[in-house]
Amino acid sequence: MACCHADFAALEGSDRGFTIGMPTFTFGAGVLAEAGDNAAELGLRRVALFTDRNLVDGAHVAKVRASLQGAGVNCVVYDEVAIEPTDRSLQDAARFARDANVDGYVSVGGGSVIDTCKAANLYATQPAEFMTYVNAPIGAGQRVPGPVKPHIACPTTSGTGSETTGISIFTLTSLNAKTGIISRRLIPTVALVDPDVTRTLPANVVAATGFDCMSHALESITARLYPRRLNPAQGVRRPVSQGANPFSDALAVSALQSVGQYLVRAVDDPSDAEARTEMMYAAMLAGIAFNAAGCHLPHGLSYAVSGLVKDRHIEGYPAAKPLIPHGMAVVLNNPSVWRHTAPAHPTRHLRCAHSLGASIVGATPDDAGEVLATRIIELMQATRMPNGLAALGLNETHVDALAEGAEPQYRVIKNAPIDVGAAELRTLFKSAMRYW
Ligand SMILES: NC(=O)c1ccc[n+]([C@@H]2O[C@H](COP(=O)([O-])OP(=O)(O)OC[C@H]3O[C@@H](n4cnc5c(N)ncnc54)[C@H](O)[C@@H]3O)[C@@H](O)[C@H]2O)c1
Ligand SMILES: [Fe+2]
Repeated sequence: MACCHADFAALEGSDRGFTIGMPTFTFGAGVLAEAGDNAAELGLRRVALFTDRNLVDGAHVAKVRASLQGAGVNCVVYDEVAIEPTDRSLQDAARFARDANVDGYVSVGGGSVIDTCKAANLYATQPAEFMTYVNAPIGAGQRVPGPVKPHIACPTTSGTGSETTGISIFTLTSLNAKTGIISRRLIPTVALVDPDVTRTLPANVVAATGFDCMSHALESITARLYPRRLNPAQGVRRPVSQGANPFSDALAVSALQSVGQYLVRAVDDPSDAEARTEMMYAAMLAGIAFNAAGCHLPHGLSYAVSGLVKDRHIEGYPAAKPLIPHGMAVVLNNPSVWRHTAPAHPTRHLRCAHSLGASIVGATPDDAGEVLATRIIELMQATRMPNGLAALGLNETHVDALAEGAEPQYRVIKNAPIDVGAAELRTLFKSAMRYW
């Protein structure tokens, strides 16, 4: 890899391998109708179908249920998934899964649904006290000791890429902090990625999830390079998220090109099938990329923002639960982060900016952070995102609380290309208050 991927030249004692996990995926309009055949092929006779209250009576779930029925696969439905799950909502789902006596799982929904299904499958199949598998140091971070049951994931949003990842994210209520469970065993067995589902997506969900996808790709490319990663375990113990690698790079660049070209069109026009299809594909690619490379600062910082701001209702999201959508919290920190991290690897930041559609003619390494930040701000303005953290009601008096809120995220933050401590976190939040 050293000849054409000089970035990844091995260091003394560094791991020379990287491992890519992903499901068998099928992409294309109408493929939800293949759920039944896939379940039958996996030998499933009775499945638990996970979805949320908003989707349970809609066309996407109906299509999957009809397909399962047509293939003679029995199905019990769980629709009590919490949008932005919590430890409590995951444990409720796991209890349902344990009692349901099924031989496999189908999820139809966004990241909240797919993540809940992964956790329910895990705790029903490999029972343990809840914190056992949760990421250390918040949880015990124990390895999942054996396989979980087959899971067919059918995403209905175009952003998280959860259908491809071994990650389940939730808010730990007692800490008011987001954390997760990560294991290759949580990667769904099959992903059915059907862009037809995006026709019913509200504009704000397309925008927020599109920025989640963008940030997954940007963070994959700019993460600490895999030979320099901090967790040196190798072989089957190699971590799921290993840092930037050539495979993630290729997928992430392709995802960024689609975001740059199609995100604004996809937000503005639900009938623009080309744009919405491209965003669905980009989300899947970026999911595979960041699962292997890992996220870092924008995600780590976003969790402090969503933990602190609890009084907003964003149109397109459930009215009963005020929240800052995940992708929105992520993008609000993006320009600030890239201005700070670009000196660590200017060429990678310039490649990101170029992939998103920015002109880099004449740009020097010193310009890298600004060129990337400027392009992202253009996209934020074009999709009517809030103008920085101040637009969510935050100001300089919240900076200490935000920096403290990001502390549980050091595991993610350490995947950044430069070292960041409490002082830098405060600077990053201050610089994210207002962008235009
Ligand atoms: N596991 C991972 O790899 C991963 C990656 C990124 C984010 N996440 C997590 O995913 C969650 C966010 O998921 P999300 O952004 O996909 O949104 P979501 O699942 O929270 O759903 C957001 C809203 O969109 C609605 N919706 C979903 N699909 C729809 C459709 N086709 N038509 C109309 N409405 C639809 C939902 O009912 C809900 O009201 C967060 O908890 C985040 O932390 C997980
Ligand atoms: Fe994300």
